[in-house]
Amino acid sequence: MIDYLPLKRVNAPYEQEMTAAMQRVVTSGWYLFGHEVEAFEHEWAAYCGLTDGQGGAVACANGLDALRMVLRAWVEMGRLQEGDQVIVPANTYIASILAVSDAGLVPVPVEPDPVTYLIDPTRIEDAITARTRVILPVHLYGQMCDMQSIMEIATRHGLLVLEDCAQCHGVTDRYMGDAQAWSFYPGKNLGALGDAGAVTSADAELLTVVRQLGFYGSVRKYVHRYKGLNSRMDEVQAAVLRIKLPHLAQCNERRRAIAARYCAQVQHPLYTMPQARAQHVWHIFPLITEHRDALQQWLLSQDIRTLTHYPIPPHRQEAYREWSHLSFPITERIAACELSIPCHPAMTDAEVDTIIAALQAFRG
Ligand SMILES: Cc1ncc(COP(=O)(O)O)c(C=O)c1O
Repeated sequence: MIDYLPLKRVNAPYEQEMTAAMQRVVTSGWYLFGHEVEAFEHEWAAYCGLTDGQGGAVACANGLDALRMVLRAWVEMGRLQEGDQVIVPANTYIASILAVSDAGLVPVPVEPDPVTYLIDPTRIEDAITARTRVILPVHLYGQMCDMQSIMEIATRHGLLVLEDCAQCHGVTDRYMGDAQAWSFYPGKNLGALGDAGAVTSADAELLTVVRQLGFYGSVRKYVHRYKGLNSRMDEVQAAVLRIKLPHLAQCNERRRAIAARYCAQVQHPLYTMPQARAQHVWHIFPLITEHRDALQQWLLSQDIRTLTHYPIPPHRQEAYREWSHLSFPITERIAACELSIPCHPAMTDAEVDTIIAALQAFRG
């Protein structure tokens, strides 16, 4: 059986080092706010092109918290007010949108470009109103949104830009938005052994408020300026991420090589293969076909497991029943037709061969 993402295999090259690091954390007796988290924050900030004196990173509990805390920080800082609108992609994982609602802001979904599946900058301007304050692009599936165009629109309209980077680790070392929210969920390109997240930004004031929000809203112990939350990365997760980080670029290269083989060697009239229009780290390899369910069954019969990202778009979820009258045809087509083909750094060439042969053999 070829699994979609066998995490045991993905983490196998680091197992010994991780076990030793965990042992170190256990015997140190220091499990939160320690050396590992502090070091990871520096290393991740540097990886994202932020050096000391130019902002940095704040570690937190997960990617949803990273998004929530940036938006809540901007509210606390007076840059946003309750009821302000945030432009979000209609085609995304729901966490991007939940964070907006959580901060008392109003998400405004915008259709993706039908080729990249990423928020379409040409449609963003049509969605801007007098209450729009933020654009929240999601670098979905591992591909950078058209940030040049998005930043131009943001500058023209005086909007903040929060990048949802949950799926794009290492796609570039220069991020253009005002802040980036990261998830290190185990299946991500840089994944922990549990939940973990981070905020990066060049804005030191924002990072200070995010850090305070994540520690019960306190400016120092027992002095609470904000109605904060508890959101911290633990020492074990930071130690694990520090072990994997030096290998991220190489892992992304492997993903690129696999994706390149799929794109070059799968030619089938029933499929639309993804196109890398910008930098891509192939967190997900999304194939589009009107025969999605039959293809998924066929691949399973060939011992190949696949997933769909995401079968029900946010505007069709009960949580957003207020959007049930809205129609986003491009998003709906992706939800109905997307199939995620295995694409991870631990795949062997033989597995890629098997998947290519099975994709080619599908008869609809
Ligand atoms: C695009 C996107 N945004 C946000 C999140 C939330 O991250 P987490 O699961 O760490 O809360 C995820 C992942 O799960 C995601 O894929």
